[in-house]
Amino acid sequence: MYCYLDVKCYACGMTGNAIELGAEREAPCAGLRIGDVAPDFSARSTTGNIRLSDYRGRWLILFSHPADFTPVCTSEFVALAKSSDAFEERDCALMALSVDSLFSHFAWLRLIRDRFDIEVRFPIVEDPTLVIGRAYGMVAPHDNDSATVRTTFFIDPNGVIRAMTCYPANVGRSTPEMLRTLDALQAVDDGPVLAPANWEPGQALLKQPDASLDTVFAAKGQTDWFMREANRGATK
Ligand code: BEZ
Repeated sequence: MYCYLDVKCYACGMTGNAIELGAEREAPCAGLRIGDVAPDFSARSTTGNIRLSDYRGRWLILFSHPADFTPVCTSEFVALAKSSDAFEERDCALMALSVDSLFSHFAWLRLIRDRFDIEVRFPIVEDPTLVIGRAYGMVAPHDNDSATVRTTFFIDPNGVIRAMTCYPANVGRSTPEMLRTLDALQAVDDGPVLAPANWEPGQALLKQPDASLDTVFAAKGQTDWFMREANRGATK
C-alpha cells in the first residue's frame, strides 16, 4: 500500500512517498500557494485508481475531510452529492480525500445512500499514510491527530491552484460558496476583469485599474480611475 503513492511537489521540488515519510514530516510541502502547480499523486479511491494529473483539461476541486462517519462531514457529502450536476455543468470534477481506508469510504457511502437517498459518485481517495495530506498541507506536520482539516483546493484545467480555503473540523463548508467561487474563477479567467465582493453570475465584473496618472486625473468620478464596471458575467 505504501509504494503506490508518489507525490511530487512542484512548489518546492520535493518528491515523497511513504518510505521517506520521516523526512517529509520535517520538510512538508505544506507551503502551497495560489499559482502553484497542484502536486501530482496517484491513489486508490472509491471510483478506482486515480491520478490527479488525469484531470488536466477541466476544473477540479480537491477537498479533504477529517473523518468518515462524522456528522459535519456527512452533511457536506450529502450537500455536495446533491449539487454534483451543478459542478458538472461548470465542467468541474470533485475529488475528496481523508485518512480513512477505502473500505471505510465504501461503508460510509453505502450508509449515506441508505439513509439520505443520495449516491456519492465522485471519488473519495484513501490517504492512510497521510502522504498526500501532508504534501497539500491538509495536516499540520507536528499534529498528533492524523485527521485532515477541511481544506479545499480549486485547481484549473492546467493543474494550477487558483484558490484555497481551510475550515476547522467543527464548521462545514458552504456548497453555494464553493460554486460561487468556481463561477468567479471561471468568469475572470478570460480577461483582465475582477470579481467584486459577493459577486454572482449575471452581476457586473470590474475592470483592472489603469496604472497611469493621466487616467487618474482624466477620470470624471472620484473612483472611476480604479473602480469601473466591465461586462456582466454570464448567468448560470
Ligand atoms: C464532523 O465531521 O462532524 C467532525 C469531524 C471531526 C471532528 C469533529 C467533527
